[in-house]
Amino acid sequence: MACILGIETSCDETSVAIVSNDGPRYEVHCNLIAAQLDLHEKYGGVVPEIASRAHLEKLDLLVAEALASTGLSRDEIDAIAVTNRPGLIGALLIGVTGARTLAWAWEKPLIGVNHIHAHCTSAAITLDAAPWPAVALVVSGGHTSLFHVRDYLDIALLGATIDDAAGEAFDKIAAILDLGFPGGPAVDRVAKNGNPSTHDFPRALPQRDSLDFSFSGLKTAVLYQVHGPGKTSGGLEKLSESQVADICASFSAAVVDVLVRKTLRAAEQVGVDTIVVGGGVAANSMLRERLTVACEKAGRMLHLTPMKFCTDNAAMIAALALRQFEAGQRDPLSLTASARA
Ligand code: KG4
Ligand code: ZN
Repeated sequence: MACILGIETSCDETSVAIVSNDGPRYEVHCNLIAAQLDLHEKYGGVVPEIASRAHLEKLDLLVAEALASTGLSRDEIDAIAVTNRPGLIGALLIGVTGARTLAWAWEKPLIGVNHIHAHCTSAAITLDAAPWPAVALVVSGGHTSLFHVRDYLDIALLGATIDDAAGEAFDKIAAILDLGFPGGPAVDRVAKNGNPSTHDFPRALPQRDSLDFSFSGLKTAVLYQVHGPGKTSGGLEKLSESQVADICASFSAAVVDVLVRKTLRAAEQVGVDTIVVGGGVAANSMLRERLTVACEKAGRMLHLTPMKFCTDNAAMIAALALRQFEAGQRDPLSLTASARA
């Protein structure tokens, strides 16, 4: 049993969580998240320098609030964990510097955590027993990857996107359709009123043995559907609300189709019965529904990460760090950040 204070600042959410465990089960004492949507909205995407500054303003306050809201004292914390890779380098450096300072001042061990591996294992936060071995689908703004998770600390990459991430594609389609930022939740909402079979958008890399993804062709197909063949502007004003909904639904279906098919294929190739899904796009309603149906049909056990642990949060960082702590992993106070995994 251990109790970890986790810090997450890899992109545009400042988050601090305190998580403890009793064997395989976790207790999330708090999972505080300060989002920065309002700061980035007018730029249509995350501005790295603005994200770093906002992390700097919020981090201390969230650490103090984490202790105050849980009634825990620093003596009850066994280690400080922090996302140190991958992500926006300036944003990561704020979290890593904060964690190094806390570890030094409170005389606690320091543990660096891989953000993508934390998304891989986030489904376990609310389970009574570890679900491994499993195939993990991680779908976020920066990543679309399949992993073979043999155990918390034994994670192997099976396939990844060769161009855009799924979340990035959702964000770009929302920009094309002028639905706002971040695009994923907006496209998800609008797609519910549309017909997913209206447009037969491309499904890339269909080869049977391929576990890689590609979403840039799909993005271009939607672009031409909206603006006209070969055009990159105009035409949006001619679309009715229901036509926009049909495009959102057909686009979502194309993304979800590929994600579902390749995830089941990975489980078959690796020979595991369990599938877990994490990352911001794991909040997508069509993905959750279609994966549930497909896994039932294929006889696979599916664990979807609960919605509140899908988008970036420090609970998943502290939860994975608990396993690293139990395995004796410690990082020096000179721990650095890295933009790449
Ligand atoms: O995991 P996350 O919070 O950050 C990264 O590590 O990238 O994922 C953010 C991504 C964004 O691209 C956002 O548009 C997408 O997740 N997203 C969704 C939904 N909610 C968030 N995409 C589709 N449907 C959703 N409901
Ligand atoms: Zn993430």
